[in-house]
Amino acid sequence: MPFYHKLGKIPAKRHTQFRKPDGTLYTEELVSTEGFSSIYSLVYHAHPPTRVKAIGTPYSVEPKAAIEKNLQCRSFLTFKTAQHDDFLESRKVLMFNSDLYVSTAAPKQSMTDYFFKNADADEVIFVHEGSGKFKSIYGEINFEYGDYLVIPRGTIYQLHFNNSSNRLLIVESFSPIRAPKRYLNNFGQFLEHSPYCERDLKLPENLQTHDEEGDFKVFIKKEDLIFPYTYANHPFDAIGWDGYQYPFGFSIHNYEPITGRVHMPPPIHQTFEGHNFVLCSFVPRLYDYHPDAIPAPYAHSNVDSDEILYYVDGEFMSRKHVEKGMISLHPKGIPHGPHPGTVEKSIGQKETRELAVMIDPFYPLKLTQDAINVEDPDYYKTWM
Ligand SMILES: [Fe+2]
Repeated sequence: MPFYHKLGKIPAKRHTQFRKPDGTLYTEELVSTEGFSSIYSLVYHAHPPTRVKAIGTPYSVEPKAAIEKNLQCRSFLTFKTAQHDDFLESRKVLMFNSDLYVSTAAPKQSMTDYFFKNADADEVIFVHEGSGKFKSIYGEINFEYGDYLVIPRGTIYQLHFNNSSNRLLIVESFSPIRAPKRYLNNFGQFLEHSPYCERDLKLPENLQTHDEEGDFKVFIKKEDLIFPYTYANHPFDAIGWDGYQYPFGFSIHNYEPITGRVHMPPPIHQTFEGHNFVLCSFVPRLYDYHPDAIPAPYAHSNVDSDEILYYVDGEFMSRKHVEKGMISLHPKGIPHGPHPGTVEKSIGQKETRELAVMIDPFYPLKLTQDAINVEDPDYYKTWM
């Protein structure tokens, strides 16, 4: 995130001697992005982060296209996806292109005997059900229903759940996840018109230094392979760090909606962006207040993007038969719009309780068999 944060102990000047109580040096690590040209953090380790003991045989998690080219409105009931004990096993890519992967996961167990690192993609994990603690070398973030966890690529992490009932929506972005530039001033501060600001972000806290040696398993995802690494020391061994590159959380419930006299377009819901896609939050809000306003959206042609809507909670005014965890996919190339009867029904209504996450990729999505397994095959006929 583009503002400065620090936790723990760091030396007064970067790249200088920083010693432990026993006189030996801490190991400084520069975690930098875009080479040395963008945001970075400096991390001070109890042990070098390079002590690899063993590398196991990598295994593939490459998503396979069951539908390569799609020109059909579709919907998927993702809560039908089976739960798995393990977090990595539970992650199922449903839709993907070269800019992002969209997955759901329903893990039952915390990650206690391994760590995970996505070397290729920033991750946004939206917590639909469940709560717990995200742990990393940058500190901990408590998460709960409605939180986005934004995890920069290269961050080793663990998720510790409070119970076994967890439902997550995961976006892997092959470009950095950022706040929309129009929300920020030239100095990177959130502007007054932004629907959220620095105070709403959940920054890492409670830095715990695990100065432990042994066998520590880190599964590293790179180019659709998972490489099992064994390191000789605990990955969370930092005594301190500072910089701009670190994970953070943000609750969808802290997104302040922008409303108007007549229908406001989807960009007012925008929360994050990556290269060639945007992520938006649809939250409870007052409806349009022009006396002749139609609160339901107009029919809409996506000339330049596919559109994924992940339904979280509440009634959706423009849709029938919506349930929690349902995804609708409205591809570019054909229009979509409110279901029959919903436009008239919306007139005169004062507010909506809808809660949803929208992801608009600018290039077409391919669909996996895991998506088709939970598809409602007749969705495309529901406007008749
Ligand atoms: Fe749309």
